[in-house]
Amino acid sequence: MSLRLGDTAPNFTQKSTHGDIDFYSWAGDSWVVLFSHPADYTPVCTTELGRVAKLMPEFEKRGVKVLGLSVDDVDSHVGWVKDIEETQNAQVTYPILADADRKVSQLYGMLDQTNLNQEGLPLTVRSVFIIDPNKKIRLIITYPASTGRNFDEILRVIDALQLSDKYNVVTPADWKDGDDVIIPPSLQDPEVLKEKFPKGYKELKPYLRVTPQPNK
Ligand code: BEZ
Repeated sequence: MSLRLGDTAPNFTQKSTHGDIDFYSWAGDSWVVLFSHPADYTPVCTTELGRVAKLMPEFEKRGVKVLGLSVDDVDSHVGWVKDIEETQNAQVTYPILADADRKVSQLYGMLDQTNLNQEGLPLTVRSVFIIDPNKKIRLIITYPASTGRNFDEILRVIDALQLSDKYNVVTPADWKDGDDVIIPPSLQDPEVLKEKFPKGYKELKPYLRVTPQPNK
């Protein structure tokens, strides 16, 4: 069975560039971005892991831990990280899982049966999982090997999820931090609306009510 939004992220223990990681103890009560790349020493992946390295202060600001993964071994990761740091001008401070036995990639459905290595074993796709502090899976995306991901979009989704959890609002198309948000149609009690949204709201339709972002 493949994992879906709302499922509990399965625990695992696996080798990494920071030693063995027991996922639940490593994650603690943080949000987590778990992301896989097809293979070390490949061009698009090099830019992706460099971009994530540069964005670490943004992830940390949001209470998010980052964990990379591919089916390469620790020695391969360690050698390749030097190339990432040299070419992308960034220090890779987050761990990368060495999932050579495919334990984690199998568990999370990250393997691409159409993309095989020289031994005929499947490589991982470009997957991203956002996992909340309760270990619930909140986002799953899969990108093709030829297309590098936009990690600003991952940060935007984290902002949206954290805002929705805290203030019971939802976010419109292309929303970014600071923009107006939407009051979900399930909120109807006028007293609750007054208390939750003291700045008021615009009712464009009974189901489409826009309000300033509550924490701005
Ligand atoms: C890359 O990172 O450039 C890449 C990896 C696997 C397949 C295609 C491209």
